[in-house]
Amino acid sequence: MKPSDTKPAAATAAMTCRERFHAACRQQPVDRPPVWLMRQAGRYLPEYRALKERHGFLKMVKTPDLATEVTLQPIRRFGFDAAILFSDILVIPEAMGQPYDFREGGGIAMAHACQSAERVDALNPSGVREKLGYVADALRLLKTELAGKTALIGFAGSPWTLATYMVEGGSSANFQKVKNLFFTEPELFTRLMEKITTAVGDYLDLQIEAGAEAVQIFDSWGGICSGGHYEAASLKWIRRLVERVNRRVPVILYAKALHHRAVDLAATGIDVISVDWTAELHTLRDGLPRPVAVQGNLDPVLLNLTPEIVRGEVHRLLESMRGQNGHIFNLGHGILPVAKVENVEALVETVHQFS
Ligand code: CP3
Repeated sequence: MKPSDTKPAAATAAMTCRERFHAACRQQPVDRPPVWLMRQAGRYLPEYRALKERHGFLKMVKTPDLATEVTLQPIRRFGFDAAILFSDILVIPEAMGQPYDFREGGGIAMAHACQSAERVDALNPSGVREKLGYVADALRLLKTELAGKTALIGFAGSPWTLATYMVEGGSSANFQKVKNLFFTEPELFTRLMEKITTAVGDYLDLQIEAGAEAVQIFDSWGGICSGGHYEAASLKWIRRLVERVNRRVPVILYAKALHHRAVDLAATGIDVISVDWTAELHTLRDGLPRPVAVQGNLDPVLLNLTPEIVRGEVHRLLESMRGQNGHIFNLGHGILPVAKVENVEALVETVHQFS
């Protein structure tokens, strides 16, 4: 019998949000699936826009009181089961000596492109703990504010996903520079990845020690690698991070355009696999030799449509996973700035009422 076949009523009565989230990570019975949304603190929220207007994005990220406030905004409004620290994956290149900003009209601009041996050698992965002390401070504040009722998730970019921004010098259309580095300068690529992986490992340690109860690794750009190279370009470095976390907290891996690799992703030892909306969660899970929890995977674009469509599609997704423990309801990627608040309300209400 799989753990998912047991459902003792006593175990699921009156769960807190935090208990529900952790039970789902461990594939244990829940009263209803837990729900949170990637980028749940973001531009679709009027209270976020008001705060950003006054302070700007990077100041909000770097000021523990503001990061805490922004993290809590969607928790207050929607009662999500988990809060995700408000921050950005690009604080890691910044802490290593490669700062960033935003391009007019959207997208990321790094201060430079990290393509040469000189640039790679200039990156400093030590001192992440001191430079990102503001993240630890925000997590400690959040831990107090959430008072054990709502789960607290930390996160980092996968080494490969960070490398795409660092080598390209920002957002990219075709990832030519980073692929060029991978194929033509394997030793330099390895040196870069070693540095990034060390920094991310230290960063995950810092977050876990400061109170993160789970960590999500975003491999948002792993799906751009050709199949045979995904292992060397990205998965190998993720595996090192999973080993380094060493089961202290559950690890969620967000993998975009990679659900065909679910067996390999699960084999890294992760606890939860988070996939984009093109996957069918129940089919994906049935194909795994080792059971892991699944997170996702509503198409974020639906939140720009109507509450009726959202209710119907959320219900369909919930039904497709009925009776299976280990489903964390989420989107297939981050919520878009044009999402309507009433649609997020409809999503949350539908999950809350599902039994
Ligand atoms: O989920 C959450 O609510 C936590 C906060 C969070 C942010 N970024 C806040 C943010 C998380 C988990 C991230 C991760 C992140 N950042 C990723 C991986 C996840 C993904 O979406 O694939 C990536 C690739 C980044 C880098 C980044 N930061 C991008 C591509 C952008 C958008 C740039 C643009 O064109 O607007 C950001 C900015 C950013 N990070 C915003 C937020 C809320 C938007 C800033 C704003 O305009 O207010």
